[in-house]
Amino acid sequence: MTDYEGVNLEVHRAHSARMYDYFLGGVTNFAADREAAGKVKAVLPFAELSARVNRAFMHRSTRALAEAGLDQFLDVGTGIPTSPNLHEIAQRVNRSARVVYVDNDPIVLAHAKALLIGTPEGRTAYVQADVTDAAALLASAQLQEALDFSRPIALSLNALLHFVPDECGAHGIVEQLKGALVSGSALVMSHATEDFAPAEIARALQIYRSAGTQVQARSRAEFERFFTGWELAAPGVVPSPRWRPDGAGPHGVSDEQASVYAAVALKP
Ligand SMILES: C[S@@+](CC[C@H](N)C(=O)[O-])C[C@H]1O[C@@H](n2cnc3c(N)ncnc32)[C@H](O)[C@@H]1O
Repeated sequence: MTDYEGVNLEVHRAHSARMYDYFLGGVTNFAADREAAGKVKAVLPFAELSARVNRAFMHRSTRALAEAGLDQFLDVGTGIPTSPNLHEIAQRVNRSARVVYVDNDPIVLAHAKALLIGTPEGRTAYVQADVTDAAALLASAQLQEALDFSRPIALSLNALLHFVPDECGAHGIVEQLKGALVSGSALVMSHATEDFAPAEIARALQIYRSAGTQVQARSRAEFERFFTGWELAAPGVVPSPRWRPDGAGPHGVSDEQASVYAAVALKP
């Protein structure tokens, strides 16, 4: 077992954060992660493309919200730092933007320093927490200190909730998080779906499960339910490459290759 500054990384088993890092071309992954990711790629040749497309949605949605005046961001399921990180995008638009990152994986904690180098005018913080305990997450002193919950916050749950199956209460968790935010806040979400490539995605999810990670793809209707009561921003729920494409790529990605829904909604 490898220790990194006292953090147990559990390198003997594949972790979703490190598999995602591998798909994105990162180097923060171990043999068990690469082996599981290799199996996923064998059944889902577009896995790497789908990861890059998902990351590009994070870039576009963050920029859009920062340009719309949102200056506080809560990013749950942050992942291993991959530049540009969310705070870099937001602080390019508004140097005073405040960003709090949350993840439950020890490897993200081990590399969190890279998430904490922001503008002098803004602020970044990292909270080690599990989204399935939303109450504890919201009560975190670092979170409460860094963000002002009496003002709008952009909550991003990108490529996170497919790791929270229904039996863990995914929709209730999102409602709890939404309930902590004031009018004008935003919910940004991307999520794996079997709607476009059912056989391939089902086989890929089985590999995650065999590697010890719980996963659940969701249909368009199940994804839409997360936004209940909030107003979807244009273009609504779409496969991730279709959410306000900006020409930056990846280009020409089909719905099947993305196999991820994306949307942004505002609290009325
Ligand atoms: C596929 S990555 C997505 C990273 C980033 N949000 C993005 O879209 O580029 C999913 C991240 O969610 C984290 N995660 C999975 N389950 C979680 C949970 N229950 N609580 C907090 N984070 C979780 C993983 O550790 C991983 O870093």
